[in-house]
This record gives sequence, C-alpha cells and structure tokens, in this order.
Amino acid sequence: MPLPKAELHLHIEGTLEPELAFRLAARNGVQLPYADTDALREAYRFEDLQSFLNLYYELMAVLRTERDFEDLADAYLARAAAQGVRHAEIFFDPQAHLARGVDMSTVVEGLWRALGGSEERHGVSTRLIMCFLRDESAESALATLDAAKPYLDRITGVGLDSAEVGHPPVKFRAVYEAAAALGLRRVAHAGEEGPPAYITEALDVLGVERVDHGLRCMEDPALVDRLVRERIPLTLCPLSNVRLRTVDTLADHPLPAMLDAGLLCTVNSDDPAYFGGYAGDNFDAVHRALGLTEDRLRELARNSFLAAFLEDDEELRQR
Ligand code: HPA
Ligand code: ZN
Repeated sequence: MPLPKAELHLHIEGTLEPELAFRLAARNGVQLPYADTDALREAYRFEDLQSFLNLYYELMAVLRTERDFEDLADAYLARAAAQGVRHAEIFFDPQAHLARGVDMSTVVEGLWRALGGSEERHGVSTRLIMCFLRDESAESALATLDAAKPYLDRITGVGLDSAEVGHPPVKFRAVYEAAAALGLRRVAHAGEEGPPAYITEALDVLGVERVDHGLRCMEDPALVDRLVRERIPLTLCPLSNVRLRTVDTLADHPLPAMLDAGLLCTVNSDDPAYFGGYAGDNFDAVHRALGLTEDRLRELARNSFLAAFLEDDEELRQR
C-alpha cells in the first residue's frame, strides 16, 4: 500500500504522456514533428528549465477540445491514485491555451469533467490553481484573471510559473492583489532557477502562502529561519530538479538538510510525464537515493496534508 499523500505541485499539461499526445494528435488532425512515441521520448533531454518549457509548450498543440482536457486529467488522476495520492492541487496554464485559440471555457470545463467526478471515480479530492506565465506581461496576467471570473467557483487559487530568471515576483503585484481581493489562495514558483530574493519577494509582495520549489532558500540562512518560523510550506520536486539540472544527482538533493533545518517540505512530481515519475515515484526515489527513513517519509506525507488547501475536517479524514 503506497503512503497516502497529497500532491501540491503538479502541472496538468506536464502529465501528457507521449502515447496520449499521439492519440490526441490523431483525433485532432495535428501533425507532431516526431515519428513516434520513442522519437518523442528521445527529445526529453533537458539542459535547463527553458529547454523543457520549449517542448512542454510545443506538445500542448494536441489539446484542443473539452474532451482532450478531460482525458488528460482523468489519466493523471488514475495514475496518481495508484501511487497513493488522495488529494491533488492541480496547476493549469490558461495563457498557453488562449494563445492557441483555445478558450478559458474549454480548458476549465474540460478539466472539470474529470475533476468533478474524481472523488467517486479515483478517491482523489482536487483543487484547481490557475497559473500566470511569468515570461508574459503583467497586463496579460490581469486579462487572464478577468477571463477566469466566470469560473471562480472552480478555481481555488493562483500561481506563477514558466521561465523564472529575469521575471521577479514584483512584476505580478497587481494581479496577486486582485486575486486576493477575489478570495483566491496564492502560491508562486520561486527559487527554482531564480535567486533566494525571489522567494522573499513572493512572500512580501505577492503574499503567497506556499512556495513552489523554493530550493534555493538554502543559500540564505536568514530566509531559511523565516520559512521555518512562519511555517511556509515548500513544494519540492526532486525528479524535476535532476532532469532540469537544478541539482547534479538525486544523491545531492538538499531535501535531508532542508528537513533537518525544520522546513515544512513536501515531495511532488511537477511534470511527471517529462521528468520520470509521479508522486509515489518521487517518494521512492528520495527514499532510495537519500536514504530517508520511513519516519521521514511519513513526515513528508503528513506535511502534504498540512500544506494543502483543505478544510480542517477534510484534512483529518484524508490522513
Ligand atoms: N517551473 C516553471 N514553470 C513550469 C514548470 C516548472 O517546473 N513546469 C511547468 N511550468
Ligand atoms: Zn512547477
């Protein structure tokens, strides 16, 4: 029995497995520039975040209809459930779809067709978190929040993702203020490739309750002290960090040092179709490579429910 856990850092577009990509391409008459699934998998050799993002955005071309988004999310939920995920807070990137002529309604309604029945079908409760692309403009983020207004009953929070360096959190002050005024929860990617100062800025300027990645906090002891003191959860993604070369090998991952420092760490999969594994695979990998004890793994699983946007009664039922 895999350890029951919550997944808090998962881009639904990053769950697009090569087999599904080809199936959707055929269904929608989209030509992919790869001969077959093996040739596509061959392209999964990333140098850094940007080289991954290029492929991630390219493959989204196959996602066109509500049914495509439903199939994508349903496939993820089935895999996640099999690895012990009981609750999933799912990122999506509307701007990447709006730019291709796929509207907000198609994306949200499509995802909801899978998420709405997930508790019954898979035993996985869900939340949706809408991310702004930080390499797009602040105005585009505001327009995206505006386009999401009819769907706010289905969207729990906002996040910030895509190319980090050169796009500091402060660029998105206005849209985060607007999101807070609408009652949305706030998270942001910070300190993946970007400096520790971006983590501080995400807390102080954007008011985030949780930091996605946050790995580079370890370069700033005063920031680590603050994150510990304020019990700010970090959503780490160990296999992602290896594939995007944020760390050299899994054995070099700072997770044990982060736990020893008292940080509220969680383990997640980020873009599992691209990075070699789902939530349970990430748990298994850190168990093996870092020698984490069963107690440490249970602590990580418990942290995932503490850090989730669940009501207290839901949280207790889940863990
Ligand atoms: N970092 C930033 N943006 C992303 C990622 C990531 O790991 N995955 C999908 N978009
Ligand atoms: Zn991410």
